[in-house]
Amino acid sequence: MAKEGADMTEETEYMIDRNAGKEGVSVESPSNAKEMRAVVLAGFGGLNKLRVTKKAMPEPQNGEVKIRVKACGLNFLDLMVRQGNIDNPPKTPLVPGFECCGIVESVGENTQGFEIGDRVMAFMNYNAWAEVVCTPVDFVYKMPDEMMFAEAAAFSLNFVAAYMMLFEVAKLREGMSVLVHSAGGAVGQAVAQLCSTVPNITVFGIASCFKHASIKDSVTHLFDRNTDYIQEIKKISPDGVDIVLDCLCGENTGKSLSLLKPLGTYILYGASNMVTGETRSFFSFAKSWWQVEKVNPIKLYEENKVIAGFSLLNLLFKQGGCNLVKSVMNKLLSLYEQKKIRPLVDSLWALEEVKEAMQRIHDRGNIGKLILDVEKSPTPLMANDSTETSEAGEEEEEPEGDNDSKERMPFIH
Ligand SMILES: NC(=O)c1ccc[n+]([C@@H]2O[C@H](COP(=O)([O-])OP(=O)(O)OC[C@H]3O[C@@H](n4cnc5c(N)ncnc54)[C@H](OP(=O)(O)O)[C@@H]3O)[C@@H](O)[C@H]2O)c1
Repeated sequence: MAKEGADMTEETEYMIDRNAGKEGVSVESPSNAKEMRAVVLAGFGGLNKLRVTKKAMPEPQNGEVKIRVKACGLNFLDLMVRQGNIDNPPKTPLVPGFECCGIVESVGENTQGFEIGDRVMAFMNYNAWAEVVCTPVDFVYKMPDEMMFAEAAAFSLNFVAAYMMLFEVAKLREGMSVLVHSAGGAVGQAVAQLCSTVPNITVFGIASCFKHASIKDSVTHLFDRNTDYIQEIKKISPDGVDIVLDCLCGENTGKSLSLLKPLGTYILYGASNMVTGETRSFFSFAKSWWQVEKVNPIKLYEENKVIAGFSLLNLLFKQGGCNLVKSVMNKLLSLYEQKKIRPLVDSLWALEEVKEAMQRIHDRGNIGKLILDVEKSPTPLMANDSTETSEAGEEEEEPEGDNDSKERMPFIH
């Protein structure tokens, strides 16, 4: 059974052990183990493409650390990867996941700044959802002593993306207004918290209605995603807003642009609208692409509007942005230590429960971040069909068509 965020004080035995491994090299692990467990995506498609298998134990190369993983972040992007709903998808089978945290178990040659036993969080270019990962130190950050592993797994991607969009791209300043979609999600909540660190910011949040009671205090004005939010916001702020953060794309792009004040900044950072059924839908992709407002620079010039895009993973892994990200991470960790920000965790899941966790984000059920807790035991009911002992990569039958109406797996939540 997943553990809810509200139960965070009752974390698993392992996650609560904040000082584990701090004493010298006594990281308890089967150090001569040749294999480890990992989630594997056998091919792009539905939930049936995910399984837990044994894989060869990785060893750190030059400049890398080897991390005994405690927890991993599960992001909406992982759902899009599973479906193959991304540009230039990598080859399958692959181990998904872009962020994790844990304890440094060994270091490669010429690796500076980290020691065995350090508690760390890391960005990964895939391969994060495993018991052990190896990654270059450029993408690794030390965790504050008081930070729990579940928090660390919920921290990096959301807060760095939110911070860079607000402060590096849109130059958030006192008195500004911000519109954020999916306000109850992991990035949405990071945006809301970061806005609260600047005086007099008005945050307009859009989210599914059932989340409102939980998140109403984090934003200034909250609207149901099914209402005409443009009209509602214009009633409160006839001039519009200074910053729009759009992770939906499609028809929301034009709507959001229409809300932008002169000198305002619109940032596209996701395409959640492309996800409809369980598998990738060409129709949703085409519709979303077709609906995107086609931008004319001359119109931007006349209207004094700024349009931007932001992709943290591209910045990190394709555009050499690791030093900039490191400086942002230092600022964020300082805000965390001052207790000004704290990631909101929705629930914890065992690796073997990855399908159920992914279904939860697909069903819009999460408030905050979903975490894969590597040391959590799966609920026996859910573990049945997702654990295999070989590195399976064979294809399975795709479910037919759009599966919105498909019966969902039972949630124990
Ligand atoms: N560019 C970057 O660097 C970057 C980094 C991180 C995340 N992102 C993007 O930011 C967005 C949020 O990511 P996240 O990981 O924080 O996820 P999230 O917001 O925690 O969870 C997803 C939420 O999105 C909303 N949603 C909107 N369209 C949906 C759809 N078609 N299917 C299911 N849910 C939908 C739902 O909330 P409501 O029902 O309340 O609307 C759902 O609960 C995603 O688009 C992601 O790709 C971009």
